[in-house]
Amino acid sequence: MSSTATNQLVETLASYEDVAVEYYDGDRHPTCRDLRELSQRFLVAHIRAGFSNNGSLIEVGPGRSILAPEAAAAGVLSRVVLIDSSPSMLSYSTPWITGGAHAVAASADATDLPSGTVSLIVSSLGDPYNCSEFWQEVARLITPDGSCLFTTPSFEWSASFRPRDNREVAEFLRADGARLFMPSRVYQAEEQIAMIEAAGLMVEERQGLNTKMLNREPAPKLRCIDSTCPVVSAYVVRLPR
Ligand SMILES: C[S@@+](CC[C@H](N)C(=O)[O-])C[C@H]1O[C@@H](n2cnc3c(N)ncnc32)[C@H](O)[C@@H]1O
Repeated sequence: MSSTATNQLVETLASYEDVAVEYYDGDRHPTCRDLRELSQRFLVAHIRAGFSNNGSLIEVGPGRSILAPEAAAAGVLSRVVLIDSSPSMLSYSTPWITGGAHAVAASADATDLPSGTVSLIVSSLGDPYNCSEFWQEVARLITPDGSCLFTTPSFEWSASFRPRDNREVAEFLRADGARLFMPSRVYQAEEQIAMIEAAGLMVEERQGLNTKMLNREPAPKLRCIDSTCPVVSAYVVRLPR
């Protein structure tokens, strides 16, 4: 993409503050609902293993946190830090914050938390901030035996309808008719892994989740690829041992 095109794009990008009020309205936004359900399925299966180490437990861009209910059930909610750049999205986690989780309004790539203190980083649908700076921040924060669980819409799915010259945005049609363009950096597996490795991290596990795994008819926008093709890609990331 040319720098002029990039600049034009950046000028038109919306913020999660612009969509927060209806983001979790599953009838209006069934694609968000289904992607989250698949992401949550992967994360919940992996989160508890991260509680055994002693460090902080972070969820980046939580909106309605997936980590906090699991931590509360395990009696470790006070170790949880929820970091979101959108105060309105973060407010979906108010019950957990009231219950003892810590909340920080900050950007994923500049958390200001101390280095080497985080044993688990959770990021559900982290495509808005999926850039080198974020992965460098992950590498700075995690303990030697810590892990980062990261999910994103899959490249296979998003590339099937995003225009080739405008791959880094996702369209969000708001209830008032506004067509908003959200930052969404989705890469092919090889590119994603290369970005993670360039930050000094390694991918321990990668999974693809498809619409066959949903307990309902998938959202219309998820039906544009074969039901066995992944619509969510999930990664377990660590420091090399
Ligand atoms: C696609 S939503 C996913 C929300 C939630 N994790 C879920 O699965 O339901 C992305 C979230 O990341 C947050 N976000 C976007 N850019 C961010 C950034 N640069 N730093 C921190 N949070 C960010 C948004 O406010 C929003 O809560």
